[in-house]
Amino acid sequence: MSSIVGAIGRKPAPAAHPIHELISERWSPRAFADRPVEAEKLHSLFEAARWAASTSNLQPWNFIFATREHPEEYARILETLNENNAKWAQAAPVLVVPVAKLYDFAGREQNSLYDLGMAVGNLVIQAVSLGLVTHQMGGFDTNKAHELLNIPEGYVPVSVIALGYPGSPDSLHPVLRERELAPRSRKSLDEFVFEGQWRQAAPDANV
Ligand SMILES: Cc1cc2nc3c(=O)[nH]c(=O)nc-3n(C[C@H](O)[C@H](O)[C@H](O)COP(=O)(O)O)c2cc1C
Repeated sequence: MSSIVGAIGRKPAPAAHPIHELISERWSPRAFADRPVEAEKLHSLFEAARWAASTSNLQPWNFIFATREHPEEYARILETLNENNAKWAQAAPVLVVPVAKLYDFAGREQNSLYDLGMAVGNLVIQAVSLGLVTHQMGGFDTNKAHELLNIPEGYVPVSVIALGYPGSPDSLHPVLRERELAPRSRKSLDEFVFEGQWRQAAPDANV
């Protein structure tokens, strides 16, 4: 995998069953290299999002991004983050705000959060393939995002994604550095995969 992500910034998932390395290599670091992301790579990230599946192909996703090369735009997104997130996320060269369109053309509520999640899933996996890392954050102020980013009614910003090239954990505050280096963990399959009915564990799902 070293061709995709270098040794710095890697924390592959200790998967219990074989999974694609683009999935095992995705994680959410807080350390970023002081290096801009090329425009063509940004295009590929949004192109990957574009080709996600969505309910009735309604594609209810939107993305507002800013790079550090445009400090005023960047500062507007940064300002939406809570203090803890802003501390480390300000080192990321790119911030992205995924925004869901809530209603379809007939004013009916659509499954847009699911669809937007599909698109972001594509984006973060495409990022791994390009040697980039992403860190999604729910810790931001939705009202501020609406106001500062001119997001109209009927649209909801659901997160902020910090993205860039991986950096050294040594660039982080010691507490965050410790988290950066901590092992990754997940529930076991038998806790959330059921065969046939709720809570009926699949016989081979135990890991
Ligand atoms: C929707 C969403 C919101 C999140 N919010 C935050 C956040 O506000 N701050 C933060 O440091 N990490 C946040 N995370 C990152 C998660 O903590 C992280 O994905 C989780 O611990 C699993 O780690 P991994 O992504 O490295 O596998 C968020 C992740 C997602 C998907």
